[in-house]
Amino acid sequence: MDIKRIGILTGGGDAPGLNAVIRAVVKSAANSCLEVIGLEDSFDGLIEPDRWRTLTPRDVTGILRIGGTILGTTNRGNPFAYPIQTSGGTRDYSARCVEMFHELKLDALVVIGGDGTLSIAYEFHKRGVPLVGVPKTIDNDIVETTNTFGFDTAVSFATEAIDRLHTTAEAHHRVMVVEVMGRYAGWIALYAGVAGGADAILIPEIPFSLEKVAARIMERDRYGARFSIVVVAEGAKPIGGDVAVVKEGTADYVERLGGMGARVTAAIEKLTGKEARNTVLGHLQRGGAPTSYDRILATRFGARAVELVKAGEFGTMVAFHPPNIVAVPLEKIVGRTRNVPVDFDVIRTARAMGIAMGD
Ligand code: F6P
Repeated sequence: MDIKRIGILTGGGDAPGLNAVIRAVVKSAANSCLEVIGLEDSFDGLIEPDRWRTLTPRDVTGILRIGGTILGTTNRGNPFAYPIQTSGGTRDYSARCVEMFHELKLDALVVIGGDGTLSIAYEFHKRGVPLVGVPKTIDNDIVETTNTFGFDTAVSFATEAIDRLHTTAEAHHRVMVVEVMGRYAGWIALYAGVAGGADAILIPEIPFSLEKVAARIMERDRYGARFSIVVVAEGAKPIGGDVAVVKEGTADYVERLGGMGARVTAAIEKLTGKEARNTVLGHLQRGGAPTSYDRILATRFGARAVELVKAGEFGTMVAFHPPNIVAVPLEKIVGRTRNVPVDFDVIRTARAMGIAMGD
C-alpha cells in the first residue's frame, strides 16, 4: 500500500506528552515525505466538516515541552455512541467517520488515546480503517505496555505535593491525606507514595481497613513521629465497600471517581483523635510540562507509529517492552485494565518500609 497522507488525533483525557507524540509523528512523517493531517477534538475531526488542518514541522516546533494537546481532545466523543445534546440520547456516527477518512484522502490514522479511545480505534480497524494506536494515560493502566507517557509526570507532581504536605504535617502534628488520580488502578498512588515516603498507601487493588491505617498512625505517634501522610487512590475502596463516585457513568460517559480522600480523612480523625486534612490533587496531575522520561517515551512512540504505518502494520498499538518499542495487536488490549499486581515488587518494598497498605 502506498502511504502518502496520515491523519492523527488525540482522544480521551489529556496527558503530558501528547504534543510530544504529535511532534514526533509530524517530524518523522515529513522526513519520509508523508503529509500529516491533524484532526481536532478526537473523532469529532472525522464527524464534523472542517475540523482538520495540515500539520507541517513548522506547526509542531516548540510543542515538545508543552502539556495538553494542540489538537484538542474529548472524553465524550465516542462516534459509535455520540451524545446528542437536544434529545439527551446517542447516535452512531461511525459510518460518517469512515466516509470522512476517505474524503480527506487519508491512507492511515494514528490514534493517540487511552483504553476507551483505543477500543474505538479497534472498532474502526475491524471496519477496514488502516490505523496504528499510541497508548496514553497518566493512570498507566493500559495492558501490554510497561508504561504510558504522562504517568511519570503525574507521579513527579504528586511526589512534590507529598513533599510539601510533609513539612506542614510535621509542623502541626497532623495527618495529611492526599487523594490522587488513577481510576481503578493504583499506579500513581503507589509510586508517588513510595517516592514521597508516605506512611499509608491505599490502592484499588487492596481493599483497605481504616482500623489498620489508624493503627499505623498511632504506632508512629508512640515512637514520636506525630504526623502521618496517607496517599489515597481515587479508586480505592474499603473492605466490603464501594468506590466513591462523583458522577455515574452513562453510555457515552465513564463513571467519574472522587471523594475517597475526604471519607478517609473523616474516619481517621474519628479513629485516632488526631487532626487530619484532605488534599485532592485532581487535574493538576495532568497539567504542565512532561518530564524528560515522558518526552522520550512519547517521542519514541510517535516515531515508531510512523514506522508501523509505513510498514503497513495496522491494527496495532505501539508499546514499551523495555528496552524496545514494539507493536502489539489492538485486540489484545481492548476491554482490559492493567492493575498493580498485589505481589508486585514495589508493593513488597512499600511493606518493607513499614508503609501500611490498609490490609
Ligand atoms: O484517565 C485519566 C484521568 O485523569 C483519571 O485519572 C481520572 O479519573 C479521570 O481521567 C478524570 O476525568 P475527567 O478529566 O473527565 O474529570
